[in-house]
Amino acid sequence: MEYIVVNGQKVLKGRVSISGAKNSAVAILAASIASGGTCLIDNLPQIEDVTSMVAAMQAMGVKCEFTDTNTLRVNPTEMTSYTFDERLAKNMRASYYFMGALLGRYKQAEIPLPGGCDLGARPIDYHLKGFTALGAKCIQEHGFVKLQADKLKGANIYLDSPSVGATINIMMAAVFAEGVTLIENAAKEPHVVDVANFLNKLGAKIGGAGTATIRILGVPKLTGGDYTVLPDPIEAGTYMIAAAITGGDVTVENIIPKHMDSVTAKLKEMGCNITEGGDWIHVCGSEVLRSCEIKTAFYPGFPTDLQPQMATLLCKAQGTSTVTENVFDSRFRYVSELKRLGAQIKVEGRMAVTKGSCVFTGAEVAATDLRAGAALIIAGLCAKGETVIGELYHLDRGYERFEEKFRSLGADIKRIKRDE
Ligand code: UD1
Repeated sequence: MEYIVVNGQKVLKGRVSISGAKNSAVAILAASIASGGTCLIDNLPQIEDVTSMVAAMQAMGVKCEFTDTNTLRVNPTEMTSYTFDERLAKNMRASYYFMGALLGRYKQAEIPLPGGCDLGARPIDYHLKGFTALGAKCIQEHGFVKLQADKLKGANIYLDSPSVGATINIMMAAVFAEGVTLIENAAKEPHVVDVANFLNKLGAKIGGAGTATIRILGVPKLTGGDYTVLPDPIEAGTYMIAAAITGGDVTVENIIPKHMDSVTAKLKEMGCNITEGGDWIHVCGSEVLRSCEIKTAFYPGFPTDLQPQMATLLCKAQGTSTVTENVFDSRFRYVSELKRLGAQIKVEGRMAVTKGSCVFTGAEVAATDLRAGAALIIAGLCAKGETVIGELYHLDRGYERFEEKFRSLGADIKRIKRDE
């Protein structure tokens, strides 16, 4: 088994370059199978979710070839299957994007119900209602969703809440629906815009991505095309918070600072000194961190995927802070692990309350999910002594060269293998 070992209390200093966004990359890979030719997708992060997506695409007969570590050439024109490999879908949420992409382009799909981080109930009813509104038949049996349509027809689709996955999935299917589709109460996350930009580059006609109403005019086919995945705001936020917790001095580079506004605002409120330029943010930690309130929300609100990392930082702040989780039912599973490192944190329903001024002390903990793993590493970075983090497969799904990037900032962090 592999573990990450962190010897804490090293102040992070230097520059870190952010990789392509995981949540964009996985959706763009799925969308690429709807293209009518070769796509060259650049700035793909080298993470397990991307590896699994590519393996699943290859199993469907899609030609995939890495031209370098972060660039993939995809050609789906000789696809042989419209079924996503069940074993590869187990740990991953993004397999659901093949529903929209396959249904749109090939009018049929068989996709296992998605896996991914356990954050409470994660239904896909909005996705299926959207596909049904476009004219598809959706059947759930034997752990698979089977989709089929003779043709798709544009429709007005209202989402009960602005789900990222449903917005992207319905958008992908609607690209090939006859006439106009409107998605109302759509998610506005940067990766929704990224996927729309990619599809538009291939000839789709999508307008309004990034607003609450997305308008899609159906087209009969797409071409190939080249595209660069946008930088990962969650990875960037993770390093910003790590800089703050160690009282460090870190420039987070190759990002879109606008995407970080909610994080920047909260770190400033806590007392960090933050400056930004065209594609970077500089975070200078403060000796005294002030308490604050965090409420997760859909974009441009504070991202739920940075909630565990931010709650960890708030444990160090002076006084009581609160963290309210508004997106997922059950995103505080990491709290019991954080307590093993000394956090004084109490969960009451959707809210976690931190007592503050915590001195973390190293212990052995398990990453209960992807962002929980990042939070535990952040705690380890400022903890006294050695923190050992297990269950790394969660982390490897979403962070590229995590230890290497932290080491380049001066952290004492390494990966070890241990016989159990
Ligand atoms: C995506 C991201 C995930 C992020 C989340 C919120 C990917 C692969 N994952 O997950 O990292 O944390 O957005 O930013 O991009 N809901 C329903 N029915 C549905 C769909 C969603 O009730 O059909 C609910 C969910 O239970 C949840 C909320 O809507 O409470 C948000 O979910 P959604 O935005 O869809 O998240 P995911 O696409 O699963």
